[in-house]
Amino acid sequence: MITSQKGTRDLLPPETRVWNRVEAVAREVFSLYGYDEIRTPVFEATELFVRSVGEGTDIVHKEMYTFTDRGGRSVTLRPENTAGVARAFVEHRLGQAGRPWKLYYLGPQFRYERPQKGRYREFRQIGAEVLGDPTALIDAEVIVMLFDFLGRLQFTGLSVSLNSVGTEATRPAYVEAVRSFFSSNEGSLGEDDRRRLAENPMRVLDSKDPAVRLLVASAAFPKLVDLLPALDPASDAHHRELKSLLVRKQVPFKEDPLLVRGLDYYTRTVFEVTAQGLGAQDALLGGGRYDRLVSDLGGPKTPGIGFAIGEDRLVEVLPEAFRRAALEGTRPVAVLPVGVPDLHEAFAVAGELRRGGIAVDLFSSHRGLGSALKAVEKAGLALAVLVGENERLRGSVLVKEMATRTQSEVAREQLVEWLRPRL
Ligand code: HAM
Repeated sequence: MITSQKGTRDLLPPETRVWNRVEAVAREVFSLYGYDEIRTPVFEATELFVRSVGEGTDIVHKEMYTFTDRGGRSVTLRPENTAGVARAFVEHRLGQAGRPWKLYYLGPQFRYERPQKGRYREFRQIGAEVLGDPTALIDAEVIVMLFDFLGRLQFTGLSVSLNSVGTEATRPAYVEAVRSFFSSNEGSLGEDDRRRLAENPMRVLDSKDPAVRLLVASAAFPKLVDLLPALDPASDAHHRELKSLLVRKQVPFKEDPLLVRGLDYYTRTVFEVTAQGLGAQDALLGGGRYDRLVSDLGGPKTPGIGFAIGEDRLVEVLPEAFRRAALEGTRPVAVLPVGVPDLHEAFAVAGELRRGGIAVDLFSSHRGLGSALKAVEKAGLALAVLVGENERLRGSVLVKEMATRTQSEVAREQLVEWLRPRL
């Protein structure tokens, strides 16, 4: 038997109904905020991710699905979607429109990680990006939109962790501070962290080594946000304005001076939402501002901000009431020919019901009516329309209510109206 690949999975019905409902709500909410959908390719030039996500990150260093195609190009299955959106923005000169672009996307992403609960090699993200607006107002609105979305999925009690990672004005001083903090502890660093310290000291904050995590959590560990007032007053003001907007909009947030996010393109605002019930992989979503990404990719100077929600994780911790409603939905009506000669007539009845807006599951009864009715019951359908010779001559059908086993003869032309209140 050929099975699915490690870290990938099939999403089967009825669970796919839950996914579809979540995605429909995302589209609904994002369009209420003026966003349009963008669809970018699933694979891109490897260099795109090296230059945007960053060479020193775990994603680029050890998690990418990279291969050489038959034309000798190095391509990579996208590990995230922000780089592709920025690339498309530059390629199609969207900046020339002279207005901010608000874009959302849904789709699979790929990271070669060790699979476990909430962590897959193929996973799906729901994300949004705003390109061309530098203000704290937009940062706040992006976070408000997120909470609007999560609220409509009936989540309660979530809060966002917030930080500012400053800009190039603060980076050199911060990197120096981290290096000097670790200079006396370098012996206790593993190979990965020594590499991080040499190449990109901020990435030491991503370390999973418990000893390093303990050092990073200590009060003496330098915090970038503390450098902002002196070295980068504009970022400091941006951060303060965002916090006051969130307070006014009653968005619950906590400041986390150690939050830097595992991707290199961030400037100023970064945020994350974690959820209980996801085990060690508790990040439900993450996002932030990336004011240099578009120009680093050869485009005009264009600020950006966005987020991506891990849809697999979201579905895993979805509130029960939302899940149940999505699973129930409306069930189709079963239509069954009583005998083989009634097949065409059953087909016609199914068509009439569908034209009347009623969903129909047509059963073939090729093993006899009894076994077809058993199949209807197994499928959990409540109503079965039996199309047989006797009723046909009278211009009617038999409707069986599966739960009570009651049968009613209903005129064909009244069938839609008869069924509708019983769905
Ligand atoms: P990220 O933090 O790398 O950010 O991923 C966002 C979310 O994707 C995570 O919080 C998590 O829920 C989900 N995720 C990541 N890896 C996996 C995995 N292996 N299995 C299941 N879920 C996973 C980004 O991707 C940025 N592009 C977000 C962003 C958009 N920043 C600005 N704009």
